[in-house]
Amino acid sequence: MVRGTTTVPLRSLHAAEWDRTYDCAIAGWDEEPPPVLGEFLAEHAPPPPARVLDAGCGLGTTARWLADRSYTVTACDFSVQAINEARLRTAAGSPVRYEVLDVTAHVPPNPFPVVLDRGVPHTCPTDRERRTFAAARARMCRPGGLWIHAGAAALSEADALDQSAGPSWTTEETFLDAVAAWFTVLALRIADFGRQVGVTNWPARYAVLRRKEDRKPFPRPDVRAL
Ligand SMILES: C[S@@+](CC[C@H](N)C(=O)[O-])C[C@H]1O[C@@H](n2cnc3c(N)ncnc32)[C@H](O)[C@@H]1O
Repeated sequence: MVRGTTTVPLRSLHAAEWDRTYDCAIAGWDEEPPPVLGEFLAEHAPPPPARVLDAGCGLGTTARWLADRSYTVTACDFSVQAINEARLRTAAGSPVRYEVLDVTAHVPPNPFPVVLDRGVPHTCPTDRERRTFAAARARMCRPGGLWIHAGAAALSEADALDQSAGPSWTTEETFLDAVAAWFTVLALRIADFGRQVGVTNWPARYAVLRRKEDRKPFPRPDVRAL
């Protein structure tokens, strides 16, 4: 997932494309999150064992990192390949609960106090897709709950880049515009996305968002229970 390369297979919001990605590419973004994510959790989230949903968990590295910190973790991804691999990488007896599901098409019966994602909505190349994801986060988060997000950040208009073959670098304005119907912003910070110099240490936006109490009409998905 190196910016500007053409080596990453095309993918968008389709599970089959992500399955192909996990089949034929090394998940270069897969690593424990940098300290800022732990700091945001400690500062803003309810303490462990609070329930946290890792939405778009990939190979489960962040989910296991959360479980190591005693959060009660549900981790979901719509790529069967990713979840199979995540389960293989998870020690027997681990409390992480994995689910294969499309987060844009589910409504959990018991929404979460904290929904976290790393490197997920930034794969949306258009405003419409970004809003679809923000609405989905709002359905998964209970009113007053938190969405903690890490994704590619454009530091200026000139730096903004919508691409379908990797992360889309969005300006703060574009990001806030996509989430404003359902969330208020508690904290924003720019920090490296990951820890690998020259691979994942590109600028990312870390955001803590509070789900508004009033229920805006959501674009309704094909409703199934989480
Ligand atoms: C760049 S990876 C990041 C994975 C993980 N969060 C990490 O930090 O390593 C993006 C992940 O989002 C998942 N994803 C994208 N759209 C999704 C959706 N609509 N529902 C569930 N998972 C989705 C993909 O399958 C992929 O595993």
